[in-house]
Formats: sequence, structure tokens, C-alpha cells
Amino acid sequence: MALTQEEQKMIRNSWGKVITHPEEAGEVFYQHFFYLHPELKYLFPTDLKAQSHKLIAAVTILVTKMDKAEHIREDVHKLAQRHKQYGVKPAYFAAFGEAFLYTLAQVLVAVWSEPLKNAWQSAYTMISEAMMLEMQAEE
Ligand code: HEM
Repeated sequence: MALTQEEQKMIRNSWGKVITHPEEAGEVFYQHFFYLHPELKYLFPTDLKAQSHKLIAAVTILVTKMDKAEHIREDVHKLAQRHKQYGVKPAYFAAFGEAFLYTLAQVLVAVWSEPLKNAWQSAYTMISEAMMLEMQAEE
């Protein structure tokens, strides 16, 4: 991934803080996502706690592998295929990213900064663009 070493370090450190309270993060995320896009609620299961844990586990894996682009590619490929089956459209990624960045800003309020925000924004853009490309390629 084209993130600088410094950005990768910031992302890793800050994510380490998020996973000390995964439930709070999950709750903030889905509440904000559904506030922005109530029409997409139907896509998700009712057990959002389990869903939150899956999302946090996936981000943890991606963050851990940030410096190994070829491993991430495989994960992204599989994630994209599954998301197509869930009925997710490329157009939904912007809202998802907005809710994700909002969640980080809330949970990491004590350390949130412009450089940290930019690092996460770049990471999300890279992953989501790769997923969207995969989803379009298979259409
Ligand atoms: C970087 C972006 C994303 C990541 C890392 C991510 C991660 C995950 C993970 C780990 C799961 C659990 C199941 C699985 O692994 O297949 C999941 C399920 C799901 N995600 Fe995402 N997701 C992302 C983007 C999105 C977007 C943009 C949407 C659009 C609304 C979305 C909607 C869903 C839905 C509907 C499910 C399935 C729920 C179910 O029926 O169990 N995801 N996602």
C-alpha cells in the first residue's frame, strides 16, 4: 500500500486503541451509518454486535498486513466477492467510509489529528477503491 511508514505507524497505534473498546466503536459506526443511510439498513442482519466484531476483526487483519500488499490483495478480492453477494453496490462505499472516519474521530478523540485523519482516509480510499474495482470487474 502506498502509505508512508509514518502513516502506517499512526494507523497501527491508533487502531490498537480502538480495539480496546470494540463495542463502543461498533455501536458508533452502525448508528452513524444508519443515520446517514437508513435505506441501507435492510442489507444488514439484526445482530449488529456480531457484525461489529466481524468488521473490527477484518480491519485488524488489514491493518496488520498493511505493509504486505500482495496479502491484502487476496483478502480484498474475497471481501469484494462476498460483498457483491450481500447486495452491496460500489456507490455505498463513500457513506461507509464517512461513518468509519466519524467513528475513529469519536473513539480516538483524545489523539485525533489532521495527519491521523489523512492517514486513515488514504487507507480507506485504497481498500475501498480496490474492492469497488473487483466488484465492477466481475459484473
Ligand atoms: C473497507 C470496507 C469494508 C470492510 C472492511 C467490510 C468488512 C465486512 C466484514 C468483515 C463482514 C463480515 C462478513 C464477511 O467477511 O464477508 C461484512 C459484511 C457485510 N458488509 Fe461489509 N465491509 C466493508 C464495506 C461495506 C460497505 C460499503 C457496505 C455497504 C453497505 C457493507 C455492507 C455489508 C453487509 C450488508 C454485510 C453482510 C451482513 C450479513 O448478512 O451478514 N460493507 N463486511
